[in-house]
Amino acid sequence: MPIARNLKIRADEVIARCHRLAAFTETPGGTLRTFLSPPMRDCHHEITQWLNTLGAEVTIDAAGKLRGFYAGERPAAPRLLVGSHLDTVPNAGAYDGIVGVVLAVAVLEALGDRRLPFGIEVIGFSEEEGVRFGTPFLGSRALVGRLDEELLKRADTNGISVRAAIEDFGLDPREIPLARLQPDTLAYLEFHIEQGPVLESLGQPLGVVEAIVGQTRMDLRFVGRANHAGTTPMHLRRDALAAAAEWTVAVERTAQSEPNLVATVGRVEAKPGAANVIAGEARVSLDVRHRSDDVRRRAAEALGRQAEEIAKRRGLSLEGRILLEQNAAAMEPFLVDQIEEAIRETGCEPHRMVSGAGHDAMVLAEKVPSAMIFLRSPGGISHEPAESVLSADVEKALECGLRLLDQLAGSPEFQKRMCRA
Ligand code: GLV
Ligand code: MN
Ligand code: MN
Repeated sequence: MPIARNLKIRADEVIARCHRLAAFTETPGGTLRTFLSPPMRDCHHEITQWLNTLGAEVTIDAAGKLRGFYAGERPAAPRLLVGSHLDTVPNAGAYDGIVGVVLAVAVLEALGDRRLPFGIEVIGFSEEEGVRFGTPFLGSRALVGRLDEELLKRADTNGISVRAAIEDFGLDPREIPLARLQPDTLAYLEFHIEQGPVLESLGQPLGVVEAIVGQTRMDLRFVGRANHAGTTPMHLRRDALAAAAEWTVAVERTAQSEPNLVATVGRVEAKPGAANVIAGEARVSLDVRHRSDDVRRRAAEALGRQAEEIAKRRGLSLEGRILLEQNAAAMEPFLVDQIEEAIRETGCEPHRMVSGAGHDAMVLAEKVPSAMIFLRSPGGISHEPAESVLSADVEKALECGLRLLDQLAGSPEFQKRMCRA
């Protein structure tokens, strides 16, 4: 297939669309869009318009995912999923997740009227970051059949459960089983920004992901005694925030002592939260990642033991909850090779890499062959308004996507998979 020539215009449109979607926010002046929040509806509406223009059929499933089906050349053709997530962190940039969905639409647009031997389902995941409920991957877990009762009961800081959030959005939680992968799904592909400095340091626009590191997320609550900050001598205090601070430093030290281990306390909430009151309660988050599940689990256990030891020494009590245990995931070798070839065909040197960020692809990989293509992140910056992409890199990503579809359409191995689906 001749690769469309107007990819530069399409790349600029991808960037403009990412910024348009960034304006759908819960916090004016910055971008925040959590699971099934009102701006998520605006976001769905906008993307639905683009997909309808292409003749794709769009639905929002019971887990809040946008799903747009662009049929193949035969009505019964199996489907390839292409997408990423539409939720964001607080004070987000315009590209994390979003660019993967917008690129999927742009690749379909660049196909013109051409249909492929497989259908393409564009998918906009509803929850990858874990901001609203402390637990990520709600949308992709529904797809693999893991959005269970326990998850539906989790509540946000306003006491609204996942189930209630789904109902408030006008969706029906009883239909969650219908939000699963269709049996004719061939594979899942995700374009995403790298969110790190590696591709930039190599001078390469695109990379191919071989594996995604595993994650443990926990919520810990140190409980001491709130008291007067002026009258309580230092040796008679049970300061929950001081305990949480000591533990936070221990988390940093533990991670520094193990190669490739990363551990983060990203959120602290002290109560009652006044300058002249000793904190009686401190709630802290923990996020631990490593490419080896064994190393990650052992580190998370050791950090839990350190928190107990600190709490005991300071006369506090401690509660802990595991919010997520997500194993590391390998991307599918056949797709990784195909992506590598497609990147090379664009004139770039493909770099194989491990993703330290979590992605819906790691959940999908449990059930379907999955793979990811990374776009260089200028300055290595992400989860921040300064997050950006280069128009020339988006152009390469579009070209790579089109070449990849062509390769898959002509691949005997992929045809065998289509016959089996
Ligand atoms: C998602 O961005 C994550 O890796 O936390
Ligand atoms: Mn992301
Ligand atoms: Mn993110």
